[in-house]
Amino acid sequence: MVYFSNSGAEANEGAIKLAKYVTGRPGIIAFRGSFHGRTLATTSLTSSNSAYRKNYEGLLPSVYFAEYPYLYRTPYEVKDGKCPKEYFEQFENMFHTLIDPSMVAAIMMEPVQGEGGYIVPDKEFVQYVRQICDKYGILLIFDEVQSGMGRTGTLFAYEHFGVKPDILTSAKGIANGFPLSAVIGKKEIMEKWPAGAHGGTFGGNPVACAAANAVLDELIDGGMLDNCKKMGDYFKGKLFELQKKYPDVIGDVRGIGLMLAMEMVHPDKTPDAAITEAIRTKALEKGLLLLSCGTNHNIVRYIAPTIVTEAEIDKAIAIVDESIAEILS
Ligand SMILES: Cc1ncc(COP(=O)(O)O)c(C=O)c1O
Repeated sequence: MVYFSNSGAEANEGAIKLAKYVTGRPGIIAFRGSFHGRTLATTSLTSSNSAYRKNYEGLLPSVYFAEYPYLYRTPYEVKDGKCPKEYFEQFENMFHTLIDPSMVAAIMMEPVQGEGGYIVPDKEFVQYVRQICDKYGILLIFDEVQSGMGRTGTLFAYEHFGVKPDILTSAKGIANGFPLSAVIGKKEIMEKWPAGAHGGTFGGNPVACAAANAVLDELIDGGMLDNCKKMGDYFKGKLFELQKKYPDVIGDVRGIGLMLAMEMVHPDKTPDAAITEAIRTKALEKGLLLLSCGTNHNIVRYIAPTIVTEAEIDKAIAIVDESIAEILS
């Protein structure tokens, strides 16, 4: 079942209220590096940058942060490419020392972390988060505001991990620019949220909903999901080629579908925010709009439109290539 609202933050706000209402519990666990929006509750769950929180402290109580498995930069030992055990153990540790699990309403997680650095978590880790939620009656909320609506080549990113949430939030691409967002929940959960428990004037705006229907038609019947997957693979291949050419500055290439990024580093692997900014500036001069992200501001993210073509990707890669060459010379 779905509750419609206007923005990503508003959907997450709704999901938090829903989880609290249905479980009768106060606590929420989010992840370090998360971005969930700019309302007071979603700011409380955001930790990608303290600038979002500065001047608003005295935020929502009983919010705790778990570590997101960012394996390119982890203090723990990674054996055979596997997610270190510390990421798994942290939940029981948290329940032992910080908050009893019976006080936790929900774990809110971006299935691919966006603002925090386009980090794709280990599949087993995501499955473990589901298990922890099931074990303690905690609701799992996936914030798919950025990763959803085809961006990763599936309608929602969670499909890559073989895990289903109890509640999912969607916004951004959902109505291709019209203000619409959604809190999507299992029937048995939504039915416990009676009319009047939450609401807003513009939720479910008919024009925005019509746009969302058209988006779904294009994604599913119009072949856009397939395009995201196909073009995503092509784009990532090109980024790996670029990394081979500039191994001292492109430390990591990652992402799924058309949610792709490269992590810019100094030769000793420390984050290089300066080159990231320089690439953005040069690329803009050459006609390519790029965004950065990451807690260290050293990730170049590529959020190509779902209709992108190979020729456009080639053009973008050529601009980034030229920009890096000019900066390094
Ligand atoms: C993962 C995630 N959640 C929530 C939001 C907030 O969405 P909005 O800006 O529509 O409130 C964003 C926006 O960047 C986001 O990336």
